[in-house]
Amino acid sequence: MEQQKRYGHFDDQHREYVITDPQTPWPWINYLGNEDFFSLISNTAGGYSFYKDAKFRRITRYRYNNVPMDNGGRYFYIKDGDTVWNPGWKPCKTPLDFYECRHGMSYTRITGKKNGIEASVLFFVPLKKWAEVQKLTLKNESSETKSLKLFSFEEWCLWNAATDMENFQRNFSTGEVEIEGSTIYHKTEYRERRNHYAFYHVNAEIEGFDTDRETFVGLYNEFADPQAVMEGKPRNSHAHGWSPIASHYIEVTLKPGESRDFVFLLGYIENEQEKKFSAPQVINKEKAHALIAELDTTEKVDKAFAELCEYWDALLNIYKVKTGNDKLDRMVNIWNQYQCMVTFNFSRSASFFESGVGRGMGFRDSNQDLVGFVHQIPPRARQRIIDIASTQFPDGGCYHQYQPLTKRGNNDIGGGFNDDPCWLIFGTVAYIKETGDFSILDEMVPFDNQPGSEVTLFEHLKISMNHVINNLGPNMLPLIGRADWNDCLNLNCFSWDPNESFQTTENVSEGTKAESLMIAGLFVVTGKDYVALCRKIGKDAEAERMQQAVDAMIEAVKKHGWDGEWYLRAYDFYGRKIGSNECEEAKIFIESQGWCTMAEIGAEDGLVAKSLDSCKKYLECEHGMVLNNPAFSKYIYEYGEISSYPEGYKENAGIFCHNNPWVIIGECIAGRGNDAWSHYAKILPSYVEEKYQTLHKVEPYVNCQMVAGKDAFKPGEGKNSWLTGTAAWMWYTVSEFILGIKPDYDGIRIDPCLPETAGDYTVNRKFREAEYEITIHPNGAQKGVKSITLDGQAIDGTVIPYSKGKHTVEVTM
Ligand code: GLC
Ligand code: GLC
Repeated sequence: MEQQKRYGHFDDQHREYVITDPQTPWPWINYLGNEDFFSLISNTAGGYSFYKDAKFRRITRYRYNNVPMDNGGRYFYIKDGDTVWNPGWKPCKTPLDFYECRHGMSYTRITGKKNGIEASVLFFVPLKKWAEVQKLTLKNESSETKSLKLFSFEEWCLWNAATDMENFQRNFSTGEVEIEGSTIYHKTEYRERRNHYAFYHVNAEIEGFDTDRETFVGLYNEFADPQAVMEGKPRNSHAHGWSPIASHYIEVTLKPGESRDFVFLLGYIENEQEKKFSAPQVINKEKAHALIAELDTTEKVDKAFAELCEYWDALLNIYKVKTGNDKLDRMVNIWNQYQCMVTFNFSRSASFFESGVGRGMGFRDSNQDLVGFVHQIPPRARQRIIDIASTQFPDGGCYHQYQPLTKRGNNDIGGGFNDDPCWLIFGTVAYIKETGDFSILDEMVPFDNQPGSEVTLFEHLKISMNHVINNLGPNMLPLIGRADWNDCLNLNCFSWDPNESFQTTENVSEGTKAESLMIAGLFVVTGKDYVALCRKIGKDAEAERMQQAVDAMIEAVKKHGWDGEWYLRAYDFYGRKIGSNECEEAKIFIESQGWCTMAEIGAEDGLVAKSLDSCKKYLECEHGMVLNNPAFSKYIYEYGEISSYPEGYKENAGIFCHNNPWVIIGECIAGRGNDAWSHYAKILPSYVEEKYQTLHKVEPYVNCQMVAGKDAFKPGEGKNSWLTGTAAWMWYTVSEFILGIKPDYDGIRIDPCLPETAGDYTVNRKFREAEYEITIHPNGAQKGVKSITLDGQAIDGTVIPYSKGKHTVEVTM
């Protein structure tokens, strides 16, 4: 193994990751904003902002697929004599005397020093505000007075990020701005149907500005050497069409030791139709003025920042563990929970691998994401469940995704994925267990957002289960439809046309044969949950009906879904086995091992143990478990997209981190703590961070969707960072199955599964209106709680009955 260079380190006390070299192996990003206004920001201040929807309300422009990498962002140019530099190194790339980027909880602080000047920028989105604050502090650390020229820079996106990248015949004529004092307004299309605009303000007098990109940059110059900056002269340009930008110009003189703050504010405003204009074609700026007034001094900004920090303190105080293993504690207490919030907010829409135009909120994705997040802000999880269920069809099928701005389902990446309905049970049960709020089941929820079609959420759950039962194949196993969780196992598609998308091309077959063992396992797990829920709310007949369906499914899996050493993956259109020892390639797949072991199908006959052993034998490698083995070496027309990927990548034998936790949970349920832990630690970012920063490439503080598998050219290389169901699954796994703190209807169930080396640990868990301090004494056991005391009194069983107030719990294994 080559010596791995390090680019940064964790600072647990401040809950930050500190990057000390701007030339990271890939841009390492962070997310700002928690509700409506969001920004992506890289360690060199690259990235962009949007309001709610990265496709339809893109505020600033970003370029994917660019050279150099990560081009475009919020840039401050400092011209000190002949030297021009940026605090985040890019885009000028002038060598800095000092560089540091601290990514924290919804904020990023970038500091650069050059020739005795320190420039430090704090970026964050204040709570409940539609704006990004950029507080720039310039400090003269030299012994002479410095006269600096400061230029800010933002490039506007013409709102719709998709057409912004393609419809140039129109775009180059529509751009419009207004300038008022130190505020530059972007109002493209405001004259017609848009009721919103953006602005870029600074709380200081400016000596000039620019709003036309080519005038500022120069047609054949670059962000690295804009002509206006190089010459130290703003052009005071007014954009008319082409590409509007916003740049302020400020002259700053600093005595030795003197420092000065500038608050830059990138804001977004919506106006009522009747109040759009203050004069013909002039924006009504009232709301912008009000927003600016709330954040126009260092004191106000510092206060807003303190509120944001308190907000995160409170969120991260709900579940806190102390094991003495820093690498575990920092992931559980900080980064895993943080990533869950980010994935919940963004689903799979906007990252440095997701362009923000292709995908909205996924039906299955969102249901899984909320399990990682429900303990933090349950009301938002509740709302999400209702939003998701509202896009369902009367037969239980679903749109695969919906647009966050409109909350309407769309068919952009297809529909008919037959696993989708089950996930609604998964999400809803997690919500009720966390909150005890059964009233959600009585909420009236429409189908496909059609007014008048409302039925209760419980009915939605019921038809979700029925959707599986009503779509069984020849072996009484669930029909796969377009695909199951694995979007790329397209068994009814049959495409030879490279211009067709595997996700949306009309299925050629009616899909009456291909069956999925992954859905079978998922149905048994969520079916058991559904049965327990029905019993809990007194719907015994319904519980009984579903129990029979679950039992029948278990029998079908034992009879038609077992291959001898592991569970089969599927049956194809012709009724042939997939993921069987009989197959030439891809003899074993991870998804069905995960779900069928979680469902404990055939545990009594040793099936679960065999399946888990096979995962270790055939799927595991140094960096985690691959999705299938051996990889497909050629395109198989009957299987679709899965075989379109080169060996070792993505769904073709990549380490698709998302599904590793399924097997880990299977291990935990089976009580195999050593194995569970060893799988878990392989994909735990803090362990990867220590060993593989260069190889892994992407952010070392969060999980990525995929790590190149053992068959890949470079095993261990990560891709598709940040937005992945892995976050929620890692959280669910460690918080509930490894550390063993499981919310339940009537209290908290304690059921850890640990490596035998684990020492005592304590979890502080807020739960509804109670707070528990739970200390676990494993005594070398991997599983099995022997006794529990609650406030000094022994209790029966493993569920701590819920009661308000503070409690101390001691658990002996
Ligand atoms: C992506 C999708 C998710 C899918 C997975 C496997 O992560 O967002 O919905 O289940 O890929 O194909
Ligand atoms: C591609 C990806 C897969 C994703 C799907 C839908 O197939 O490989 O992960 O879920 O697209 O966007």
